Amino acid sequence: MCGIVGAVAQRDITPILLEGLKRLEYRGYDSCGVAVHADGALKRARSTERVAQLQEQVAKEHIAGFTGIAHTRWATHGAPATHNAHPHFSGHGKGSARIALVHNGIIENHDELRAELQAAGYAFESQTDTEVIAHLVDHLYNGDLFEAVQQATRRLEGAYAIAVFCRDEPHRVVGARQGSPLVVGLGKSENFLASDALALAGTTDQIIYLEDGDVVDLQLARIWVVDHAGRPVERPVHTVHVHTGAAELGPYRHYMQKEIFEQPRAVADTLQDIESITPELFGDGAYRVFKEIDNVLILACGTSYYAGLTARYWIESLAKVPVNVEIASEYRYRDTVPSPTTLVVTISQSGETADTLAALKHARSLGMEHTLTICNVATSAMVRECKLSYITRAGVEIGVASTKAFTTQLTALFLLTLALAQTKGVLSPAREEEMLKSLRHLPVAIAAVLALEPQIMAWADRFASKENALFLGRGMHYPIALEGALKLKEISYIHAEAYPAGELKHGPLALVTDAMPVVTIAPRDELLEKLKSNMQEVHARGGELYVFADADTKIMNSDGIHVIRMPENYGKLSPILHTIPLQLLAYHTACARGTDVDKPRNLAKSVTVE
Ligand code: M6R
Repeated sequence: MCGIVGAVAQRDITPILLEGLKRLEYRGYDSCGVAVHADGALKRARSTERVAQLQEQVAKEHIAGFTGIAHTRWATHGAPATHNAHPHFSGHGKGSARIALVHNGIIENHDELRAELQAAGYAFESQTDTEVIAHLVDHLYNGDLFEAVQQATRRLEGAYAIAVFCRDEPHRVVGARQGSPLVVGLGKSENFLASDALALAGTTDQIIYLEDGDVVDLQLARIWVVDHAGRPVERPVHTVHVHTGAAELGPYRHYMQKEIFEQPRAVADTLQDIESITPELFGDGAYRVFKEIDNVLILACGTSYYAGLTARYWIESLAKVPVNVEIASEYRYRDTVPSPTTLVVTISQSGETADTLAALKHARSLGMEHTLTICNVATSAMVRECKLSYITRAGVEIGVASTKAFTTQLTALFLLTLALAQTKGVLSPAREEEMLKSLRHLPVAIAAVLALEPQIMAWADRFASKENALFLGRGMHYPIALEGALKLKEISYIHAEAYPAGELKHGPLALVTDAMPVVTIAPRDELLEKLKSNMQEVHARGGELYVFADADTKIMNSDGIHVIRMPENYGKLSPILHTIPLQLLAYHTACARGTDVDKPRNLAKSVTVE
């Protein structure tokens, strides 16, 4: 999604800005741009291609300067086109452009501000809400950019992180944030801004995380931060070692494939040689919190939400604690009945998802102070905002479709289940040991499922010509069916829906014909016989069943029923194993259809707008 990099230095900063954009590239974007202060004027290059093409353009046009800003844009207001790409300029009635600005987020009152600025004589070149901020800053500018940005941000409604510089103040960049992340990177007589510390890796590891309402003044030898009320504030400096590796594809065709095959390692790393279950795995004070809470509220989006749905089955059956799972973007806009004895759990790969962060803040505003996050980025806003946390060790995930992040989330959620069960006195030492043994064996069990790839590829060739698919699961495998359908639709663009198998006859059965592949998750569990009846309902109507069946289910290949046998039955942890073939099926179907697997159309890796 959108990314920001800014710098003020005494050397040409375009290589730093472009390198920063490259580091943020994997999050998805549809245009990019850079602007610098050069020879008393603002110079800019923008492109609807990749950062590499922008880099060529910058070299060709000899764009270089000591102060500048850069941006990757994921379109919200206005099509992905050069004139909508950031940086946006403003300079009403002053000859050349005076203000350059980049923005992440969404300004909700942009229509009202646009009308006001048009009345003041500003002409708009784009359809973006961002250009409104550039003109607003210019309109309020009276010789002091820091002052103008503070005044401008008071007029903005919505979420933003911005970086701005001005033709008339060559050694200054001003940033501000509200609802979207922004960090300051400290250098020696040079300073930087970015939407993520990752963008500054290799440039500086001295990072300040700005807080909502902060405005920052970056100059060569000093930085100055004020809070929402304009009061000077000191924000702590963190030494941040951002992992930038993982960029090598190795023998794989795509990052998604690589990440699917990294799952045994990622799950093992997430388990960190844990020898026994203790609430303190989730942070200091977790025992007291787990003791006090009597229900769990899980908030998440997309794949992370499906991890939460799976965890509900685990927590309710093993820890006997009631669980609600809410789609984050819906939760904050609905009247709920809050309770101070709720454990609020957010799940997020990136830790920057705007909807989940907003839902967390909303829960806290309702008096729910016990917060815990399962997150893959230790330095993210989500981890900083929650009292307790468990960091999954999936490593950087580059493919937009979440794979290893999901299975490591499930691993961490299972640990949470055991810790809650122990605190509530419903986990015997023998059961704890048995569960830990299963967890330790997981990486090996996942590797055995990955070996099914050739069989799954054969199925994928048949799926490639379809336009619709159904996914069925029951109990704790229903969320895995949802995840399988999401994977297929986001990277192969095949329309896919998931249903609890028993629900089929209440409507979706009408869709079943011989053109409809029905992917079925068939673990050997207490619902197996019910599932077999549901499969018969499909078979009787000519539907083609593609079944991932545990070894001892006695489901056989026959006309219209295709079976891939899972290597072992995995009890409570079965949802993790059954995820793997669905990822491979989506991946190989997408390859067969020739889509852009790692960067599917319209999607971004880190969704930082509401
Ligand atoms: O970073 P998060 O886990 O908070 O992201 C949530 C969703 O945006 C994400 O899981 C999305 O659904 C993925 N593209 C799914 O593959």
